[in-house]
Amino acid sequence: MRLPAPPVPRKLNPAPKRPGQGNGPVSARDAAGEAGTTVMDWVDERTSLSGGVRWMLFRKVPKGIYWFYTLGSATLFAFIVQATTGVFLAMFYTPSATQAYSSIAHINNEVPLGQLVHGMHKWGSSVMVILIFLHMGRTFFFGAYKYPRELNWVIGVVLLILTMTMAFTGYLLPFDQRSFWASIVGININGTGPVVGPYLSDFLRAGPELGATTLARFYSIHMLLVPGAIIALIGAHMYLVVKLGTTAPPWVRAEKPKVAAPVAQLDAGANGNGRVNGHRVDGAPVDGEGNGAL
Ligand code: HEM
Repeated sequence: MRLPAPPVPRKLNPAPKRPGQGNGPVSARDAAGEAGTTVMDWVDERTSLSGGVRWMLFRKVPKGIYWFYTLGSATLFAFIVQATTGVFLAMFYTPSATQAYSSIAHINNEVPLGQLVHGMHKWGSSVMVILIFLHMGRTFFFGAYKYPRELNWVIGVVLLILTMTMAFTGYLLPFDQRSFWASIVGININGTGPVVGPYLSDFLRAGPELGATTLARFYSIHMLLVPGAIIALIGAHMYLVVKLGTTAPPWVRAEKPKVAAPVAQLDAGANGNGRVNGHRVDGAPVDGEGNGAL
């Protein structure tokens, strides 16, 4: 049975001749040139991805947004830097109690650009923690956690916890004196938590004392578990940002409609009071009522 021909995009109408069609052969190169086909067209014809990209990127944003609105993207950039530098570090790092320290020394002293990549990852972790708190502060003080963005706030809280988990588990990996003792302190602090605290600290220690099994566990959480969860949650976070749009700064007020909209008139008629949001339907404020905010 012959499969039906795939649909030809409208921009290729009339369809160019393909090799073997019509009056003699047309080379594939000519056909591509005739149709003005670019790599993007080629991919789009087979995937229809451009619709999704347009849906994601071509958005109206409210008036008055400014630099504070870049903090989420800055956090995302910091995460991408961490993920990229982490991949290169993992090529040279050995998560073993006897070799972890020397593998970090090897990265710093012998691997080309190793010290730079290690430094970017180490300092980048602090940068990401600072940025995520600043971004959370911006969304909190601008009231962006309110309806309909509550779910995005909750996803953000989970992202915050996961980011702190990354910072905590990563700190042990050099396995030097500082990271060893700091991790003992951190695990003990976790143990003081109500109900789940002791279970959590037992789980993190992975044995009676901090040692080789703890390092393996921290490495697996740091490398596999948490980054996977962060990537999935950032995807959900971004989807909701695109779908719901961004909030206007609190000091930017909605504009008053210049003429009463038909729906407003209908509402006013239904209420029987001839007023909408403290205004008469013709837009004039009613004495003593309403402050002009919609
Ligand atoms: C890995 C961590 C995170 C990344 C990569 C991230 C990324 C972003 C980006 C790019 C935006 C849109 C631009 C902007 O408003 O800045 C955004 C918006 C938002 N984020 Fe995050 N975010 C993260 C963590 C958080 C946290 C910890 C919270 C709060 C607990 C949060 C709550 C929100 C909310 C409520 C919005 C909507 C803002 C609005 O509509 O004005 N995010 N996020």
